[in-house]
Amino acid sequence: MKYGYFDDSKKEYIITNPKTPVKWINYIGTLNFGGFVDHTGGSLLCKGDPSLNRITKYIPQLPCSDIKGETLYIRFKNNGKYKIFSPFYTPTLDNYDLFECHIGLLYSTIISEIYGIRTEVTIFVPINGNEEIRSIKVKNISDKPLDIDIIPVVEYSHFDALKQFNNADWVPQTMQSRIYEEKNGLKTLIQYAFKNRDIQVNYFTSNYSVSSYDSDRKIFLGDNEYGSWAKPLSLLNDDLNNSQANRGDNIGALMHKLGNIKPGEEKRIIVLLGQAVNIKKAGSEIEKYRNEKNVDKALSEISNFWEEFLNKFQVKTPDESMNSMINIHNARQCYITKNWSRYLSLYQLGLGTRGIGFRDSSQDVMGIMPQKPDEAKELIEKLLYVQKIDGSAMHQFNPVTMIGTCGDADEEEDRPKYYGDDHLWIILATGAFLKETGDMDFLKKEIAFYDKGKDNKPIEKGTVLDHLKRAIEFTHDNTGEHGLPLLGFADWNDTVNLRAGAESVFIANLYGIALLEMLDILKYLKDNKTHDKYKLYYEEMKNTLNKVAWDGEWFIRYFDYDGTPVGSSSNTHGQIYTNAQSWSVMSGFAENDKAVTALESVNKKLNTKNGIKLSTPGYDGFDPGKGGVTTYPPGAKENGGIFLHSNPWVMIAETIVGNGDRAFEYYNQINPAAKNDIIDEYECEPYCYAQNILGDEHPQFGLARNSWLSGTSSWVYQAATKYILGIMPVYNGLKIDPCIPKKWDGFYVKREFRGAVYEITVENPDHVSKGIAKVYIEEKEQDNNIIPIFNDNKKHKIKVIMG
Ligand code: GLC
Repeated sequence: MKYGYFDDSKKEYIITNPKTPVKWINYIGTLNFGGFVDHTGGSLLCKGDPSLNRITKYIPQLPCSDIKGETLYIRFKNNGKYKIFSPFYTPTLDNYDLFECHIGLLYSTIISEIYGIRTEVTIFVPINGNEEIRSIKVKNISDKPLDIDIIPVVEYSHFDALKQFNNADWVPQTMQSRIYEEKNGLKTLIQYAFKNRDIQVNYFTSNYSVSSYDSDRKIFLGDNEYGSWAKPLSLLNDDLNNSQANRGDNIGALMHKLGNIKPGEEKRIIVLLGQAVNIKKAGSEIEKYRNEKNVDKALSEISNFWEEFLNKFQVKTPDESMNSMINIHNARQCYITKNWSRYLSLYQLGLGTRGIGFRDSSQDVMGIMPQKPDEAKELIEKLLYVQKIDGSAMHQFNPVTMIGTCGDADEEEDRPKYYGDDHLWIILATGAFLKETGDMDFLKKEIAFYDKGKDNKPIEKGTVLDHLKRAIEFTHDNTGEHGLPLLGFADWNDTVNLRAGAESVFIANLYGIALLEMLDILKYLKDNKTHDKYKLYYEEMKNTLNKVAWDGEWFIRYFDYDGTPVGSSSNTHGQIYTNAQSWSVMSGFAENDKAVTALESVNKKLNTKNGIKLSTPGYDGFDPGKGGVTTYPPGAKENGGIFLHSNPWVMIAETIVGNGDRAFEYYNQINPAAKNDIIDEYECEPYCYAQNILGDEHPQFGLARNSWLSGTSSWVYQAATKYILGIMPVYNGLKIDPCIPKKWDGFYVKREFRGAVYEITVENPDHVSKGIAKVYIEEKEQDNNIIPIFNDNKKHKIKVIMG
């Protein structure tokens, strides 16, 4: 069954059947104000922080047929009685004649036709806006005049999202709503938690006269709430009850009577849901967006934003779905992931203290480098601020308070309180930023370390370069029995939580890559002394890894606290882990034929038609000695599931050994756009990557979950653009070194880089995967494949002949 189709010319995916296997969502706004909208009009909105300033009540665990956060009712008189329906399908579930949800770039438009009424609702947050706008057009497409009323509805959450769910007395006692009436019938419903009455209010208003309203859910639904969202009893009366909630579950419902609409006639109203200090302060924003012209302008500003964003990197390859992902959907997902980290999605619910992940965001910024290096820099600075004096990092932090936590490590008393990998990722992120921009002064910027003194002021600060060096030294100084880095609570694989003393092959490799990044930086800075020291660190770790971690056909993944290897043929479960193979190749550590042998083992033992599994076989039962990974049944998530984030690393490793056919096969087999025809098995959105797909040990092999916020996005984008297409920023230019399927005749890339446009045509006359025969810049032959920095605001034609 198909639920929709791609329309690349409009940069949209169009859902045509609302009964998708799970809600499919889209993001609007940013963490400053925004959230997600599902394809049946529900919304989860927050301002600044989904945990501490939540606005709408969206409970993903409730059935898809229930209202979540917001909806819209329409009614008209039929034989003297009101016929009530929602053009969003949920919650009235009427049999529409036409349903379309257009998933656009930072907006969604839901169109439906039913009972002779066509409704078109565009939902978005203006750039830098503090409100969600719902622009609603209603058209009479029947052959008789209709009296139409439209009633938008919002259901609020307590601002402290977790409290909403764990106290059903305190929360309702604090929630209140008030009405502000203006001339000409305009009205604004204000909602607040009593504590915030004078500093932070939600508002719900429109640009059309409101005849009546409700803000108490019990009164709106009626009959002590035995009236339901599918049929609110108040909507059977001519007018609502004008309830101003003094307590209870707070909603906003605004009755707009559009009057008699002739056949073919259309009316438009604009509904705003926002937050401000008080109603007065919201006044000018409300006035601005009550004006249709300003709403249309705000929407076209969003489309201009994307035009500019996407233009920085455009490709034409022989593969249409790769083009669609790189040019639109993957690029968009990278930006969304950068904005939201793992904070708020249909699966990551933004409750409690999760916040922004150090490791996650360090990787996310690498996915938006060509488009938004300035925003990447801003986030890198924030991350460096939660790095500790000893070089390790806080695992996550709240972006508003900047208070860090140790993540799950906080919950396990007898385990180390740091993650062995976190701090090293920031070196990769910073290196990518420097190569993209050449902004070497950034290395001199002073940023405080996280540790605070008695007065709660930071104890020490250091330059960005100092921060990076501390990260290296932390890993250098924290190695175990075998000379490999200590695991800490976990490394990238959050769920393998071995006892203190365990060592990680993954961290050894990440350290290796971080050292290579540092060597480039130090060479540029002409700091030979540190350069030579780090070169030695690199060689030492390389030797250790090859000496202790080779299992015969692959690299083992960990040594447990007692020296037992994990991820070895000597284990019954978890014999081979993908990341130990891909990363040993990426770091350049794998000696001789070990790289190719290890990657062959991945292909043989871990690859499936739906992607590469993280490890195999899955652990079959809870084992406190292994931790989180054994809480999943075999085949799920990190326990032998297809954890997509680790797939692009194998693609990258395959390009390093020159296997372009396989790199592309791995790319293609996880492309969500290619899942559009098998959605009933896959279930998640086909227009963005999911985090995980159930592996072949699981009865529901092929089922995806946790879409949108995943490191998969940034890394697949990097694997595709920097390694398969091989367009790689380096300190002195743009290196071109593709590794493509042999059958490709070539491809084209337009990339903006350091103040110029590089129009790159790659030809592959001999049908090779890798290798450059000739490079031309505007017809002039070059002697190497690094295209210089032009910085002249001009277009440059580059031709590369492979061979
Ligand atoms: C989740 C976490 C990420 C971790 C990954 C693998 O995606 O956000 O930090 O690396 O799981 O365990």
